[in-house]
Amino acid sequence: MDLYTHTEETRQWLEKNIEIKPKWGIILGSGLGGLVRLVENAQRIEYSDIPHFKSSSVKGHQGALIFGQLEGVDVVLMAGRLHYYEGHSMKEVTYPVRVMKALGCHSVAVSNAAGGVQEGMRVGDLMIINDHINATPESPLCGINDDRLGPRFPEMIEPYDREYINTVKGIAKEETIDVKEGVYYGLSGPTFETPAEYRMIYRLGGDAVGMSTVPEVVVARHGGMRVFGLSVITDIGYPPENVEHVDHEYVLKAAQEAGYRVETLFRGLIRAHG
Ligand code: HPA
Repeated sequence: MDLYTHTEETRQWLEKNIEIKPKWGIILGSGLGGLVRLVENAQRIEYSDIPHFKSSSVKGHQGALIFGQLEGVDVVLMAGRLHYYEGHSMKEVTYPVRVMKALGCHSVAVSNAAGGVQEGMRVGDLMIINDHINATPESPLCGINDDRLGPRFPEMIEPYDREYINTVKGIAKEETIDVKEGVYYGLSGPTFETPAEYRMIYRLGGDAVGMSTVPEVVVARHGGMRVFGLSVITDIGYPPENVEHVDHEYVLKAAQEAGYRVETLFRGLIRAHG
C-alpha cells in the first residue's frame, strides 16, 4: 500500500481516538522530553498502538504521541523520535511528520542534541537552526513521488522559517536566554565524529552536528509545513584542542540542563504563532 493511504489510515485511527485538532507538531530531542509535562489535558498514545508507526529504541527517548494544549494551542508532541541508525528507513523515521501534516498541523518545532563546531560554542549553548546541510545517506523523498503529499522537487531556499526565527530571537532577548544561530549538519550516526570529521564539518560550514532533524525537516517542507529548529549543544567538536570524550549519558545530561530554556522558547513560539 502507498504512503498516502497509510497516512490517511493513521490519521483516521488517531482522529477516532483524540478530541483535538493539533496545529503544531513538536519533536523532542534526546534528553529534551520535559516539555511533555507542560501539556494540558494530555492524552498519550503509545507508538506501538498506532497503525503503521514504528517504535523508538533509544534511551532518553520515550515512544508516544502526546496530544493536548500548550499555551492554549492544540499540539501533538512526539515524545521520542525515530532515527535512521536504529535501522528504520528514512520513510519510517519521517512517517510521524506525514501524520502531523495529515492531522492538520501547519508547523513543526524540532529540538535536538548536537555537537558544537562553531567557534566559541560551549556545552549547554542553544543554537537556532537557520539552515542545514544534508549529509545523510538517503532522502526520505527517494522513490516515486506522490503529488498528494508534496512536489517531486521541493525547494529548500528557506527550510527554517524566518518569521519563527525572529520570534524566538525576540523571546530569547526578553527572557535573557542566550541563543546562537547557525547551520545544522545532519548525518546518520551512530558514531560520534572523529576529530577530522568535526574539522571537515567546520570547514564545510556546519555550526552544529547531529543524527536527526534533517529527514524530518525535508518531509515537513515537502508537505508545505513551516519549520522551527533548535539545537542544544551537548559537546564540542571544534577546535580540535577542545574536543572531549563524549557518550550518550553526557549528551543526555547536558540536554536536560538546557530543558527549561528550550521549553521557554518553544512555548513562546507557539503562543505567538498558534
Ligand atoms: N555528533 C553527532 N551527534 C550528536 C553529537 C555529536 O557530537 N552530540 C549530540 N548528538
